[in-house]
Amino acid sequence: MASRLVVERVEAGYGAVRVLHGVSMEVREGETVALLGTNGNGKSTLIKCIMGIVAPQAGAIYLEVDGARIDLVRKSTEEIVNLLLGAFRREARAAIDANLAFCFECFPVLLARRRQLAGSMSGGEQQMLALARALMSSPRMLLVDEPSVGLAPILVSRVIGKIRELKEQRQLTVLMAEQNFNQATKIADRGYIIVHGKIEFEGRSAQELRENELVKKYYLGV
Ligand SMILES: Nc1ncnc2c1ncn2[C@@H]1O[C@H](COP(=O)(O)OP(=O)(O)OP(=O)(O)O)[C@@H](O)[C@H]1O
Ligand SMILES: [Mg+2]
Repeated sequence: MASRLVVERVEAGYGAVRVLHGVSMEVREGETVALLGTNGNGKSTLIKCIMGIVAPQAGAIYLEVDGARIDLVRKSTEEIVNLLLGAFRREARAAIDANLAFCFECFPVLLARRRQLAGSMSGGEQQMLALARALMSSPRMLLVDEPSVGLAPILVSRVIGKIRELKEQRQLTVLMAEQNFNQATKIADRGYIIVHGKIEFEGRSAQELRENELVKKYYLGV
């Protein structure tokens, strides 16, 4: 099934403060797309708009599935989650054991802590748990907001590696907001750089992102 997530000229913010200024981007089926930007540039706000947590003041956000357009703006977060999961997938039920085994293999610490309440886990453990929970439902599309935050470097590499594995094994589609440029470009097929709520650069490959002047300016300090 061919599908695509499209964001068109989205304006959004909080109260009188405008954070996103005409943001357009898309994620096509099977791609891993990185949304790169440093602190406060609007990455999480864009993810929240897609998820129905922040309402855009203008613009469109929709899924295109087999040529049919499904608007996400004004849908509840719950509805959007179901749509992104590839709603009502029976496969997820059949795959519970396999998914669980995969999650424990990714994050052995979750196996050791399986009787512990999520709220009492460390920040990094909760981060792993959040990703594991998302994977349990055999999603069609994964939106991740800074998977590297709060994780030790070795775990960042592991999480990034596992996301790549999912893409390769299950053709998972991924939109990943990341500040960690080096990790993100290890697995991204392509990506966008957001600066002050505007997409300032669209890289058609990880290579193009790495070679971009903005990246050199903001990340590498040259
Ligand atoms: N609930 C809110 N109310 C008011 N302003 C907000 C709110 N959430 C975010 N902002 C502001 O919107 C701007 C963009 O924030 P956002 O969280 O989207 O950035 P980000 O790119 O995800 O940054 P980070 O890498 O630090 O997570 C910031 O200036 C932030 O202070
Ligand atoms: Mg953020």
